[in-house]
Amino acid sequence: MTQFSETDLTAAVVDSFKDTPNPRVKFLLQELVKSLHAYVQKTDLTFEEWEFAIDFLTRTGQKCTPIRQEFILLSDVLGVSMLVDAVNHREREGATETTVLGPFYVGEHQVTPHGTDVSARLSGEKMFVQGRVTDLSGKPLAGVPVDIWHADDDGFYDSQKPTYATEGPSSRARFITDADGRFFFRTIKPCSYPIPVDGPVGEMISYTKRPALRPAHIHFLVAAPGYEPLVTHVFIGGDPNIDCDVVFGVKDELIANIEKRTDPVMPDGKPSPTPWHLMTYEFRVRPGGGAAPKPLAAKATEDA
Ligand SMILES: [Fe+2]
Repeated sequence: MTQFSETDLTAAVVDSFKDTPNPRVKFLLQELVKSLHAYVQKTDLTFEEWEFAIDFLTRTGQKCTPIRQEFILLSDVLGVSMLVDAVNHREREGATETTVLGPFYVGEHQVTPHGTDVSARLSGEKMFVQGRVTDLSGKPLAGVPVDIWHADDDGFYDSQKPTYATEGPSSRARFITDADGRFFFRTIKPCSYPIPVDGPVGEMISYTKRPALRPAHIHFLVAAPGYEPLVTHVFIGGDPNIDCDVVFGVKDELIANIEKRTDPVMPDGKPSPTPWHLMTYEFRVRPGGGAAPKPLAAKATEDA
């Protein structure tokens, strides 16, 4: 039996992965070991702290369900999600900026006719959203699926509510761009919301006295065949929390100027009995490939 010292233990564990068939997997595991060991040595981690970490990660996993992803939330608040996004999108070439997927991309996104009010059951200030998908040269892309999802006027996603199973999706849909690359829908203006604080990630955020808020936004996933999937948000300009996003996801280009309108009709010619807001945004995608993320519930169905 070989006895390892503190200093040569790391090399021994790294070497134990030397026969891993896939070179990328081998590299990832060996680098993970090096980083973990360096952390333990740098912090002189105590047994009590190590046990706390094991318990924290255990509870993080136990909090996950087919429509709740506490690990994505943990990744988000630690900035890991935005760092993975950054290293994978170093070259944008004029394409729309990306940001985190977030933990609420759940459920099947049903193809919905343009103009639909995706928040018809909800109270809130009405908003008309009009978007366009183009390539880097501005050429419109037709037939592109665009998934959208956002929180309600109280800051909750549909999947966080007990009514989700019986009433189905709300403020969540898929549109297919028309011949001019356009899509449009009605909804309510979302507001800032706190990330879920009833799990271990929330415990960490409140214990460390970090604000738990995300500035108001709508999520977009643009999945044009032959182009890189675009995972992004459009933020509501003027949101008071725009500078303190708990997941570090705001980029200047993604902040939209939302217009307050009093016209009696919305851009599609249909009447609006109340004042409304207008969000307009153009999404530019770059050529490439890669699979778009799948909603959690769809993944759970495939895995079953
Ligand atoms: Fe969100």
